[in-house]
Amino acid sequence: MRSRMAGRTVLVTGATGGIGDAVVRRLAGEGAAVVVTDLDAGRCEQLAQEVGGGALGLALDVSDEAAWQQVVAEVTARRGELSVLVNNAGIAGMNTVVTETMESWEQVLGVTQTGVWLGMKHAGPSIERAGGGSIVNVASIFGTVGGFGAQFSYHAAKGAVRLMTKNAALYWAKRGVRVNSLHPGFIETPRSRELWRGTPRLAAMLEGTPLGRLGTPEEVAAAVAFLASDESSFMTGSELYVDGGWTAR
Ligand SMILES: NC(=O)c1ccc[n+]([C@@H]2O[C@H](COP(=O)([O-])OP(=O)(O)OC[C@H]3O[C@@H](n4cnc5c(N)ncnc54)[C@H](O)[C@@H]3O)[C@@H](O)[C@H]2O)c1
Repeated sequence: MRSRMAGRTVLVTGATGGIGDAVVRRLAGEGAAVVVTDLDAGRCEQLAQEVGGGALGLALDVSDEAAWQQVVAEVTARRGELSVLVNNAGIAGMNTVVTETMESWEQVLGVTQTGVWLGMKHAGPSIERAGGGSIVNVASIFGTVGGFGAQFSYHAAKGAVRLMTKNAALYWAKRGVRVNSLHPGFIETPRSRELWRGTPRLAAMLEGTPLGRLGTPEEVAAAVAFLASDESSFMTGSELYVDGGWTAR
C-alpha cells in the first residue's frame, strides 16, 4: 500500500479541516509528497511537517485565481509537476431557497464551486504535463439529492461540482487526466460534531442513513486514495458515494 502513491506530488485543498486532514495523512502514508493547502499557512506547515515525506504547507484561498497561479508555480518549481489534485475545500450556508441572500450565495459558490473550477483550471495542465494523473472533486450527497430542502447555495454548488467533473473528465479523457467526484454522506469531524450535537437534524441524518451511523474522515480518505491511485484507472467522470446508503433510498 505504501508505494501506491510513491513519487507522486498531490495537492489537497481545505487540507487542515476534518476530512482534509485524514486525506493528507492517508496519501502521505501511501508515499505521496503532499502539498497541504488551506487558509491558515501556519496550520498547513505544521501538518506538512507532521506527515513528512516531502510535504509542503502553503496558504491557498481556493476562490482566488491569482493565489492558485502562484501556488501551482511554486509547487512545480519546488517539487515538479503535480500528479493528483484533491479539490476538498468547501463551505456551506444554512439558507433556504427563499432566505438565501446574494452575499451568502456568492460566498458559498465562490469557495465550493468556483474554487473547484479554478483548481482544475490551474492544476490540471500540470497533471497533464506530468504525463497524466487524477483529479478528485469532493462533492456531497447534497450535490445529487435535495436533502432537507435547506442549505440552498451548498446544493447548487455541489450539484455544479458533480457536473463540472463530468465535463472536465470528457475534456481530459484523451489527455491522461481522470476526473471523478466523491460524494460523502454525513461525516463526523470535529466541526460537524459541534454543529450537529443533540440537534433534531442529527437524529434525521442517522434515521435516513441505512448503515445507522455517521461516517468517519478516514472512510472518505480511503475512497479519495482509491480515486487518486491507478487502481481506479478505468474510472473517469464517475461519482463515488461514501454515504452509508443514504442515496440508495
Ligand atoms: N463533513 C461532512 O459531513 C461532509 C459531507 C459531505 C461533503 N463534505 C465536503 O467535504 C469537504 C471537507 O469538509 P469537512 O467536513 O472536512 O469540513 P471542514 O470545515 O472541517 O474543512 C473545510 C476546510 O476548508 C477550508 N476552507 C474554507 N474556505 C476556504 C477557502 N476559501 N480556501 C481554501 N480552504 C478553505 C477550511 O479552512 C477548512 O479547513 C467539503 O467540501 C465539504 O463540503 C463534508
